[in-house]
Amino acid sequence: MLDVQNLHLSMANTEILRGVSLKAARDEIVAVVGRNGAGKSSTFKSIIGIYKPTKGKIIFDGLDLTTLPPHKRVKAGVGYVPEDMRIFPYLTAKENIELAAFLSKNINKLDEIMELVYTVFPEVKSFLDRLGYYLSGGEKKMLAIARSLATLPKTVLVDEALEGLAPIVVDRFVKAIASIKEHGIGVVIAESNVLLATKAAERIYVIERGEIIFEGNASDLMNNVQVMKILRGA
Ligand SMILES: Nc1ncnc2c1ncn2[C@@H]1O[C@H](COP(=O)(O)OP(=O)(O)O)[C@@H](O)[C@H]1O
Ligand SMILES: [Mg+2]
Repeated sequence: MLDVQNLHLSMANTEILRGVSLKAARDEIVAVVGRNGAGKSSTFKSIIGIYKPTKGKIIFDGLDLTTLPPHKRVKAGVGYVPEDMRIFPYLTAKENIELAAFLSKNINKLDEIMELVYTVFPEVKSFLDRLGYYLSGGEKKMLAIARSLATLPKTVLVDEALEGLAPIVVDRFVKAIASIKEHGIGVVIAESNVLLATKAAERIYVIERGEIIFEGNASDLMNNVQVMKILRGA
């Protein structure tokens, strides 16, 4: 269970997160939805340890991660896919995965990792030997998620999991996210498009100006006129 408590984050003299709390269990898919600039990526970066909140706690399976460096948070079981994916262009897809396995000290579990990757994204097989440079946007996103699985996470944070994907590809990723969960890995996605988020997630948090303003399921969200108005920018 990921338990994020009351995160406050300031950067460049601006308050970016103002008391963000959220929970995500390993048997659920959770979405953090909000407009551009609302604080989704900053929340994920704070959870993984790239940003340092001034206040608040991050507890994972009872372990306090708040002051640990990012690699120890990954080792504790938190996976992370950044919104810009950071695929190494001059490594092949396979090497991108192997490097993540190596750096997270899982290289001896490479067979287990590849099996997991192929069940979630069988497509990866078809471009294993291609350089990152030559992958399409959708392939890069698949590889970025596959690479995060190489750290054998218990919960994975996927920033902009569905954003920018062609409509037919979205359903493919929704299925893949469900398959990750079926492997006992909790999934937390960040999305600005509320309709895409409701396709994938069972529980939704809405963030606006660094504050969580809603928590509930998709139909409660759709029926919440006030929150939906904010999400539409009205
Ligand atoms: N490193 C940074 N320095 C200064 N401001 C930042 C930094 N990172 C994010 N911000 C600001 O924090 C706010 C939230 O950004 P972000 O978390 O990226 O939003 P989202 O992912 O929801 O689009 C934005 O106003 C953004 O400009
Ligand atoms: Mg973002």
